[in-house]
Amino acid sequence: MIAALLWLAAGTLPAAATDAAPPDQVKAGEAIYARCLACHALAYDRTGPRHCGLFGRRAGSVKGFAYSPAMQRADIIWNARTLDRFLANPTQAVPGTTMGYAGVTDSKERSALIAYLRQANGSAECLRQAERK
Ligand code: HEC
Repeated sequence: MIAALLWLAAGTLPAAATDAAPPDQVKAGEAIYARCLACHALAYDRTGPRHCGLFGRRAGSVKGFAYSPAMQRADIIWNARTLDRFLANPTQAVPGTTMGYAGVTDSKERSALIAYLRQANGSAECLRQAERK
């Protein structure tokens, strides 16, 4: 298991190092993520689906989570661009979504939040979750 973790770390660190966001931005994003914690967690589903593995994931694809038909049909792959659009105004980006949240209107705040989410995908919490699957 430790070998698997080391292997994962070796595989993910070089990529993380090349497009790593400034630590200040990630920190600011973590503070903004507090707004999302009302409904989301990184490693498990709550009112909203887990955010571990979000980057590169197809919208509406966490197994066992009861998405709205709108999210399942959205045909979005989550990346910095699609998240920026969705988080600015969720109900406009995905009409019919059950994510009852007005959105993050400040673009700087959205960038920080997205930098945090990307960084969190490679966090120990998410790597442990990926191992359990
Ligand atoms: C009031 C509860 C609530 C809040 C607050 C909330 N969400 Fe959500 N979120 C949801 C629900 C419910 C869904 C599933 C929506 C659907 O199926 O239409 C969702 C879906 C998502 C998705 C799509 C995930 C996937 O697997 O396709 C993303 C990304 C997301 N939320 C990000 C965020 C972020 C970032 C924040 C904080 C700025 C946030 N959410 C705040 C409830 C919430």
